[in-house]
Amino acid sequence: MTSTLITNIGQLVTNDPTHDGTKLGLIKDGALLIEDGVIAWAGPTSDAPTKQIKKTIDAEGMCVLPGYVDSHTHMIFAGDRSNEFRARMLGEIYTAGGIASTVEKTRKASDELLLSHAEFLLAEANAGGTTTVEIKSGYGLTVKDERRSLEIAHKISDETTFLGAHVVPIEYKDSPKDYVDLACGPMLDAVQPHAKWIDVFCDKGAFGVDDARRILKAGIAKGLLPRIHANQLQEGQGVTLGVELDAASVDHVSHLSEKDIELLSTSKTVATLLPGAEFSTRSPYPDVRPLLEASITVALASDCNPGSSYTTSMAFIIAIAVREMHFSPEQAIWSATMGGAKALRRTDIGQLVEGASADFQILNAPSYIHVAYRPGVNLIEQVWRNGLQLI
Ligand code: NIG
Ligand code: FE
Repeated sequence: MTSTLITNIGQLVTNDPTHDGTKLGLIKDGALLIEDGVIAWAGPTSDAPTKQIKKTIDAEGMCVLPGYVDSHTHMIFAGDRSNEFRARMLGEIYTAGGIASTVEKTRKASDELLLSHAEFLLAEANAGGTTTVEIKSGYGLTVKDERRSLEIAHKISDETTFLGAHVVPIEYKDSPKDYVDLACGPMLDAVQPHAKWIDVFCDKGAFGVDDARRILKAGIAKGLLPRIHANQLQEGQGVTLGVELDAASVDHVSHLSEKDIELLSTSKTVATLLPGAEFSTRSPYPDVRPLLEASITVALASDCNPGSSYTTSMAFIIAIAVREMHFSPEQAIWSATMGGAKALRRTDIGQLVEGASADFQILNAPSYIHVAYRPGVNLIEQVWRNGLQLI
């Protein structure tokens, strides 16, 4: 058995309220025992077990928190769209149509290039404190290209999502129903072994609610679990559909009606906010307060994609959420860790409790508040995943 004790943690964020009665479950001068890749114990250094410890690490008063759980990325693609970003910053408006240009480049790219690019993004995410990433397909949009996108995603993550219904590809422009048939039939069959989740972009310029329902139900019938991109660009029926199908998460949700909020508050469905997309499309940020007042579980994720949010930095997302969306620093940290875990319906990540995966970060800072307080500064001292030091 390998056991490592980390002591002298100035502030330990566990997300276990039993420690101090708060959501973040803070322990002052804490310690963490790791055995065989999982957390064996968390508590004050003064109570730390002393027997059979193979290795001790002195955290020198730094802050330790769970690794970020980035529950929403689109990491399988080729090329970038920096010119579109530039045009938006000069006044153009974001539309879902830009996806087609990434589709063209992704189809032309080799498997090796797609994998090495995704590995590069994953390494970047890990270096920023992220220890779990969900990865969607959606830039292939043919049976072959969606299958290989998911095969590649599956090599680097267990949290893979089939997003064949990202947009209708140009070759089906005049027969979108045929594309929906493809996505519910042969394409779904081809990706099924490599996908855990099914997702649909249900919004202006993408898919309507009836097609979204058909596609999600087809996926559920094949054993995939539903999540949905909804209400990003305008209000619509996507959130209602997500709740109806017990989706693990409704994502983007920047335009919610009172009815949407009421529905979410009575469901298990998490609302995932992706402020990188508002940043990069120069759109207004949603206010999280009505969601929290309705006791809705809120996650924060990067939405890493080349069109609307080309970042893997969860620290950046947290800083925006605090500054622009009325998250408290503690709620933002919780949403980027435990919130992400709940959006993936996982109980083994996002928290530093006995039995959970030893996925955590050591910050060169005395408190989690510094993540938002010191925007743009790399505070990462170490990152551990499954009890192994990555950074
Ligand atoms: O999450 N919402 C749909 N898809 C991506 C955008 C993809 C793109 O513009 O390439 C998103 O924002
Ligand atoms: Fe997205």
